This record gives sequence, structure tokens and C-alpha cells, in this order.
Amino acid sequence: MYPFDLNTPFSLKIDEIQSNEFVYFKPERDKDFGDKKFNSAIELISKKTNRLFLSIDQLTDLENIKNYESNNSITWFGVPVTVGSDQNEIEKNQSSYSNIDSLSFKIFEELRSNFDHNYKVIPEFILSKNHYQLGPTIIEFFKYYKVPFAFLKIDGPPENQKIQFFRETFESLRINGFKGKIYFSFTNPYLDEWNIKTHNTFSGVQTVHIDLSNKCTHSCVFCGLWGPEFIDELKAQTTSGVLAQDVVSFMNKQMPFEKSIEILESLPETIKSVQFGGAGDPLTHPHWLEILSKWRSRGLRLEVLTNFEYPNFNEIESLHKMSIGRRKIDFMVNVSAASFEVYKMIRPRQAKETFEKVIENIRYANKLKLRDGYGMTFTMVHIINSLNFKEAVMMVELASDLGADVWLKPLEVHSDIHKKYSIHKDNYPLFKEMMNQALKRADELKVRIVLRDLIEAIVVS
Ligand SMILES: C[S@@+](CC[C@H](N)C(=O)[O-])C[C@H]1O[C@@H](n2cnc3c(N)ncnc32)[C@H](O)[C@@H]1O
Repeated sequence: MYPFDLNTPFSLKIDEIQSNEFVYFKPERDKDFGDKKFNSAIELISKKTNRLFLSIDQLTDLENIKNYESNNSITWFGVPVTVGSDQNEIEKNQSSYSNIDSLSFKIFEELRSNFDHNYKVIPEFILSKNHYQLGPTIIEFFKYYKVPFAFLKIDGPPENQKIQFFRETFESLRINGFKGKIYFSFTNPYLDEWNIKTHNTFSGVQTVHIDLSNKCTHSCVFCGLWGPEFIDELKAQTTSGVLAQDVVSFMNKQMPFEKSIEILESLPETIKSVQFGGAGDPLTHPHWLEILSKWRSRGLRLEVLTNFEYPNFNEIESLHKMSIGRRKIDFMVNVSAASFEVYKMIRPRQAKETFEKVIENIRYANKLKLRDGYGMTFTMVHIINSLNFKEAVMMVELASDLGADVWLKPLEVHSDIHKKYSIHKDNYPLFKEMMNQALKRADELKVRIVLRDLIEAIVVS
């Protein structure tokens, strides 16, 4: 979602728009904004995205708007519709009282008739005097016009009376089983506050997590799925001594490509970020690059939890190109070792080439970033355990060399047989000292430590 306000400089932002990113564009003509500038902005934005929402709230010359409809690929036109205004006139003509504001239908019909493709016209409701009419009117609009979503216009920070009115509206929608999408104006700087305070459950999620694949070729000893001892334990529990079929199917499970796109297309326009992670490695999916690229095209921030062995340099270049934009692409690379000696202890089945490839992959991506001034960001995940805690300082140094952040992530014990990877209490003083040194080195090298507070708490405890 990309709220756009032409009163702030916009030329740079236009370059960053992704091909399916929702752009809420609300020009204000009266503020030094002539036809020429408006035309070129519309043309530029509509070339960048297939999801351009043009709010014509401030534009009265609808004849011109009709030209835009035919010349440009504007996906939706938002038109202002007041709900709950003076009802005297209407009530006189009605035999029974209705909470549906028929005047708002008239307003909408009139505005809609200016468009050839009137399915593109979306109401932007403005709450007027009688707030009891808003909920029932919204329900009727969705039923009658089959609009994919609607906006509620809001200005400034939420104030108590309006919060109350909108809360009642949303409550009445819930009671009626309404399932549509109702967004508050995306351009409002207090948008989250409005949604939270009014209990707007009809807006949408901002972040999702998706598991593409349970497969992984690494053998991290502390892993709750692919850890070699964990697998042996599962085998020992069967009479045949081999893994049960349902376990094997689970370990090989991958999300069909079509399903991942179906999920993406079902997401509301509020979506901002996605984390690809899960039990396996998302980059073992045969279509991982295409999937990441499709998700990125909605303008999302991507966070990918991976061992980062699988991409080749061409694929890294594709990822690099896709990283242009105001939202980051973050790779959280579980390395958990700064030397091959420890890497081998953590992953007994991996060869030296694997460790080197992971490091070279990150180095290559960082080179592209330094060359172009944009690019993916990396976090070296160091899952701290009995085998690698002494390498915390080395990990910070490695991260500094690669232009990455560091996450000193405390180990989660997934099985009793993994308890031995916890730091033994005899080693607590040394462990604290190692963390202390890692923080100091990070300060010296200006390496960011993710969730630093947590490590500081360990150091001072
Ligand atoms: C199971 S991994 C799968 C993704 C990928 N294969 C990887 O190794 O990062 C998902 C996330 O959990 C973390 N992780 C795995 N085992 C863990 C453990 N025992 N304790 C804490 N974090 C763990 C990894 O660092 C990664 O960020």
C-alpha cells in the first residue's frame, strides 16, 4: 500500500513503485497543482502499477476524469459519498423508517454515471450527522454494487465522538455478518490509531508469514525437523527403524506455486510485509524466485529465513534488481558459525564448499549493493549454543566484512536430545563475557545487533 500525497515531493517515490503495488493517489488541485503536473503524474504512476487508486475527492471537472479513464490504466476511482446527511426530505416520502441512506445512493449513482467502466468506481464514505445510517448503508452498497472494498474518509487524529460512532458502525457490521473490506483513508498519518481505536476489523492485515517448503538439505544439530539426532530419535520410535511415511511426507511438503499466488491475491490492500520461513528452507522450493518476485510486486517488504546456500549469482542479481523500493528485502541467514570448523560441528553433513558458498553469496550481494547504492540487507543469524558461543566476536567481525547485521539468537531446545546444546551453567561466566565482547566489537565496527536489549540483559545479569 502506497499512500500518495502530491503536496510532498513525489518524483523519487514514483521510481520505487512496484508493478502491483496499491497506490492511493489523492491530488489536491487547489494547492499549486496545475493540469500539466497532474497529467504527467497520472501518466507516470499508471505506467508503474496496475493498482492505481485515484481519489477524485478534490476534482470537480469530471469531464477530464473521463479522459483519464480511457487514456490511462487507472484501476479504481474513489468518489466522495456522504452518508447520514439531512434526512427530512427523504423521510417524508417513505412509508417506513429505514436506516439506509438513499441520498448516498443517489450521490453515488450520479458520480458513477460519469464513467464508462462504472465497476471501477469505489465509494469513499464521509460520515455525516446520522451515524446510525453508516453501517446499514455500507452493507447495501456492497450487496448492490458488489464493490471490492470501500474507504471511510477521515481527517487528522481520532477524536472521541468519531471513535464512538465508527465503533458502533463496525459493531453493527459484525452483528450483520458483514465480510467486506473497509479502509480508512490511507493518506491519514494516524491511520493505525484510527483502526485500533475504532476496532476496525474490516481493514486488513499488514504482515503475513508463509511456509513454502519443509525441505532442507542442511543438518543443523539443533533443528527440530532436520537435526540428525532428532531424525534418529524418530526412526528409533518405529518398529521398522525407518521414518514413518507421514513424517517423510511432512518433511517433503511444499506449497504448490498456484496456492502461493492464490494467497497473495487474497491479501487486502493494507499488506506491507511478508516473512518466508518455516520448518524447512523457502529457497528449496522449485519456484522460489518467481514466488518472491510476485510477492514483491505488491510492494511488500520481504524477510526470508534461509541458509542461503541455494541461490546462484544470476538469481542473486535478480533479487538485487527487485530490491529497488522503499521497503527492504531482508535475508536472515542462519549461519551459526564464523569458521568452517564450527560450521561442520553445527552441520555435520555439510562440506567446506557449502560454508564458502554461503559466505560468497552474501559477499556478492553486498558488492552489488555497494556498486548501486541499493540492495538486499543481510542479518547473520548466530543461534547461540554450546558449540558456537565462543565465536560471537568472530561472527560480528564476519558480519562487518560482509556489510551485514548480527542476530545473536538464543537457542530454543526442541527435543530432550538437544539439551546438550544449551550453554552449561559452568560456562555462564564465560558466555556472559563472550556476549559482552561481541557487543563491544559491534560498537567498534558499527555492526547492528538485532534485539540488542536481550543480549545486554544477559551481559548485566
Ligand atoms: C527452522 S529455520 C528454517 C529456515 C532456514 N532453513 C534456516 O536455517 O534459517 C527457521 C528459523 O528458525 C531458526 N532456528 C532453527 N532452529 C532453531 C533453534 N533450535 N533455536 C532457535 N532458532 C532456531 C533459524 O535461524 C531460522 O531463522
